[in-house]
Amino acid sequence: MTQLADLRRSYVLGSLTENDVAADPIDQFQRWFDEALNAKLPEPNAMTLATVNADGQPSARIVLLKGLDARGFTFFTNYQSRKGLDLDANPLAALLFHWVQLERQVRIEGRVQKVSDAESDAYFLSRPLGSRLGAWASEQSAEVPDRAFLEQREAAFRERFGDDPPRPPHWGGYLLVPTRVEFWQGRPSRLHDRIVYLREPNGAWRIARLSP
Ligand SMILES: Cc1cc2nc3c(=O)[nH]c(=O)nc-3n(C[C@H](O)[C@H](O)[C@H](O)COP(=O)(O)O)c2cc1C
Repeated sequence: MTQLADLRRSYVLGSLTENDVAADPIDQFQRWFDEALNAKLPEPNAMTLATVNADGQPSARIVLLKGLDARGFTFFTNYQSRKGLDLDANPLAALLFHWVQLERQVRIEGRVQKVSDAESDAYFLSRPLGSRLGAWASEQSAEVPDRAFLEQREAAFRERFGDDPPRPPHWGGYLLVPTRVEFWQGRPSRLHDRIVYLREPNGAWRIARLSP
């Protein structure tokens, strides 16, 4: 416990002000993402996805951001996985980025929708063969007897599809359309900068500062 209590660092690298930020949160996210890329962070597109099931039980896991455009944030997964079932029951979800080396956090909330089949097909075809076969082999989130079971399934799908597996119908993308996006920059003495974008009913973004 003592060790955990003593673990802390001071945040000194940057600052964020209402005047610095872009008018649109996607533009602001793109700026920070470019900086994360330039800083050569490991897996800068890894983000925590939080979902809530029909009983109100939240769960969280990491997925990779694979698309960013004016509509929002896209990731790909198995539609019948635990997260997929959660999102069927409740499309409200949250994304979280923590770019440790930049002392930054981005929190995103909104509603997800499935992307078009054409968009899922295009991304699926861009994946390495092993990943494409894995999407068939893995009934993601289901219990399996052992590892051999998975390897046998993969071999069977390899046999069936060869080098050209089509996209499984249960696999594809989700687009999270944001309604709230918060940018957090660590500052000294725990007086961190928190700038939040809130989507107004007329579609405009209101920018506010939050107490750290
Ligand atoms: C760095 C990293 C990246 C991941 N990317 C994805 C991804 O893009 N899509 C995905 O379905 N799972 C991804 N996973 C696995 C998920 O964290 C999770 O184990 C899986 O999706 C099953 O989650 P669920 O049972 O809650 O549906 C990733 C895991 C890590 C650690």
